[in-house]
Amino acid sequence: MKILSIVGARPEFIQAMPVSRAIGVFHREILVHTGQHYDYKMSQQFFDELEISTPHYNLGAGSSSQARQTAEIMISMEDVILKEKPDYMIVRGDTNSTIAAALVAAKLNVPFAHIEAGERSFNRRMPEEINRLVVDGLADRHFCVSQAAVQHLRAEGINGSVVQVGDVMLDALRFVLPLARSKSDVLQRLNIQPKKYSLVTIHRPANTDDPLRLSSILSALNQTDEIVILPVHPRTRKALEALELHLGDSLHIIDPVGYFDMLVLEENARLIATDSGGVQREAYYMSVPCLTLRDETEWTATVETGWNKLVGANAKMILDNWFNFLPPAEHPFIYGDGTAALRIAGILNEVPIY
Ligand code: UD1
Ligand code: UDP
Repeated sequence: MKILSIVGARPEFIQAMPVSRAIGVFHREILVHTGQHYDYKMSQQFFDELEISTPHYNLGAGSSSQARQTAEIMISMEDVILKEKPDYMIVRGDTNSTIAAALVAAKLNVPFAHIEAGERSFNRRMPEEINRLVVDGLADRHFCVSQAAVQHLRAEGINGSVVQVGDVMLDALRFVLPLARSKSDVLQRLNIQPKKYSLVTIHRPANTDDPLRLSSILSALNQTDEIVILPVHPRTRKALEALELHLGDSLHIIDPVGYFDMLVLEENARLIATDSGGVQREAYYMSVPCLTLRDETEWTATVETGWNKLVGANAKMILDNWFNFLPPAEHPFIYGDGTAALRIAGILNEVPIY
């Protein structure tokens, strides 16, 4: 089959790697980068590190409002689909790139699979929740990470097309971690010791675009009495600059790091605090306790196992749990065994071509 595979934002580049390797054996994959993320440290660095082939198309969408960004991607995507006439498409996750590609595919009658289908926060104030609902409503095949996602889809009347394959982010992590350990010198560069620091990421609009929440989180991070490494997403850097906070010496705000450095920072952290979906899961896979800086999460199984705790943006909650949150000894497999991409490829091999 000729498969048009869509990526646009940081986690999608990482997710694409194991899937491209698995489907590339049997199918011709045309990789389309929407250009939603474009800074070197948000985009090209992942292609370089993970040796993902250069996308056949870069739609150059860039940053904009929700509607404009989605619309820009849709317009260019339509041209690509009309030109390439793919047999099938793959979209992943919950970004504006995902919804834009899904809408165009559905209207041009190109069947498509959604990887990471069925996840729900049940918070429709999140753009990602809207994207997920629409994309899952239109997709022909739903590849789910979690049992919860399968149940959410069932509750929405989506059944026959659903397969729980596990998390392709776990595939990527397992594949890359040994390489990351040998290649990354991030601990030396930052002059930090294993398990003697915490790692924090913040990028959700609910935190970055609300000065009260962002100040509250930063105020907690400032008071932890521990080295805190905070690789900042560009939207967070802008929000922090606007707040003009006084930050202590133990809080290290650095540029976004590559995947090798990120995996090494995660594996060696004593604690991770994040509002990222990918980082919550990676904390679990690395058996590092995680505080989630949100009021709800799609990744409920990580919370149910006792390895992740929702602390919102409340400085007292964050500080009360910083040194006191201790996960149990049990650490079950919750999101598959790192073979999701192979399962996806196996199922796509059965797609009839008309
Ligand atoms: C997007 C996704 C989010 C995902 C995240 C991964 C949507 C609605 N959101 O959020 O689900 O978790 O990617 O990181 O699709 N910017 C730059 N350089 C870049 C990219 C972004 O400076 O290369 C800045 C711009 O000011 C931009 C802002 O970051 O306005 C937000 O970028 P955008 O892609 O719209 O959303 P994310 O917050 O990255
Ligand atoms: N990541 C990275 N460098 C960073 C921050 C994150 O390589 O500075 C990786 C992280 O390990 C995970 C993915 O990016 O694999 C998560 O992306 P992000 O937090 O931007 O989005 P989300 O998962 O919330 O959609």
